[in-house]
Order: sequence, then structure tokens, then C-alpha cells
Amino acid sequence: MRTKLVGGNWKMNTNLGSARELARAAARGVTDSPATVILFPPFPYLLAVGGVLQDSGPGVRLGAQDAYPGADGAFTGEVSLSMLADCAVSVVLVGHSERRHLIQETDALIRAKAHAVLDSGMTCMLCIGETLEQRERGETDAINRRQLESALTGISPDCASRLVVAYEPVWAIGTGRTATPEDAQTAHLGVRGVVASILGSNAAESLSILYGGSVKASNAEALAIMPDIDGFLVGGASLVSAEFLQIVEAVS
Ligand code: PGA
Repeated sequence: MRTKLVGGNWKMNTNLGSARELARAAARGVTDSPATVILFPPFPYLLAVGGVLQDSGPGVRLGAQDAYPGADGAFTGEVSLSMLADCAVSVVLVGHSERRHLIQETDALIRAKAHAVLDSGMTCMLCIGETLEQRERGETDAINRRQLESALTGISPDCASRLVVAYEPVWAIGTGRTATPEDAQTAHLGVRGVVASILGSNAAESLSILYGGSVKASNAEALAIMPDIDGFLVGGASLVSAEFLQIVEAVS
């Protein structure tokens, strides 16, 4: 049985007050949910959100949107995994499309981050997905394969239980366009096959693969019933508590 997960990626949004409020609403709203929720606030609010979640039980975990793949040292502006561990972070996003395409992170850096997160004992939520041009050229599966192989080759199979993959087609992120449930299912099945070839079929079978890209309360249920969609990574809709909780409900 795969773990059902719903991530709320707040990106560079919220302030101290609204971050606390969103966290309180999530903690209150998911007490009976079989799905685990992971909140990804901006770095400056990790401690405050962690404080709110402290007494909320294992159903809501604290995540970070990024991390530097090296030990503490002279890396101005970066945040290390040990700093994140101090803030009670247990999940780190790696390779989000905004970091790949806007911040221009390379495959090599994403690979270093994925390995560092898994080596640290935390969960790595690896984001992959194709651009619109790549989709139109029929390259979706090839791009997913390249990004997965690049990031995951060489990781120890012992780490597989702490890996989550989020398939997020770039053209669907923040655009209001969502992949159809059938297209998302096809992509997820392909992802599972690639992970099986890298980490073995047991690891692939138990891997949670999340869909991301304009997930809303209105489309979550149709996506969630697909057999290889194990939850969602939600951006915009995670900033509205009532809608986010409806998405969590759809996964449950
Ligand atoms: P969106 O973002 O739900 O606003 O499309 C998803 C993501 O970037 O993870």
C-alpha cells in the first residue's frame, strides 16, 4: 500500500501571520485524513510553522523548498540540510521546475541535491516534468526518464523508501491548464517503469508518485482515482485553506 501524500508548496508567498494561519488550518483540518500532508513554507517561516505543527501528530510534516547539497561553510545565501534538520524539516523539494527553468539549476546540481537529501536521512521529493515544446514533440517520457536517471542513478536502494517523485508538467504549473487524468496516469506509469529500472521493481511499486500542475478542488478527484497517482503537489491552491483541505479530502 503506497503512502498517499499532498504537498502544499507555498513558493515565495505568505508572511509570518498568514503562514501560521495556513499551518493551523492544515493541522486542524487533516486529523482524520489517511493522507499525509507536507507543508513547504518559505525558509524564514520554517520555525514558526514548525512550532504550529509541533502538537499536530504525524499527519502533517514540515518540508523545505530547497537545500544546499554540502556541509555548513562559506556558501552565502544558501541553507544546509543540518540547518533544516534543526528546524524539524523532514522533506526537501528537489528539482522543482521553477528552480530548473527560472533559477537555471543544472541536472548535476539537482543530482547532488537529491543524493545529499537522501544521505541526510530526510525524504527527497524529486520534481520532474516536460515543457510544452517537449510535450508537443512527443518527448514527455524521454524527458522524465532523463531527469530521473540523472538524479537517481547511484542512490542506494536502502534510500528508496525516502524518495517521492512529483510529476509536474511545466506547462501546467500555475497556468490553470491541468493534464487530463489519462495523460497524467500514462506519464506516472512511465515514471514507475523508469524507477523500476533504476531502483528495482519493489521500490518502484511502493513509490508515491504525485501529480502537480494547477491541481484544484474541482479537478483533484478525477486525478486521484487514477491507479498510479498517489497524491498531489499543490502550489496556488495550497494558499487557500478550504480549497487545500478539499484536495486532501479527494486523495483520501
Ligand atoms: P500550481 O503549482 O499548483 O500553482 O500549478 C504546482 C507546483 O509548482 O508545485
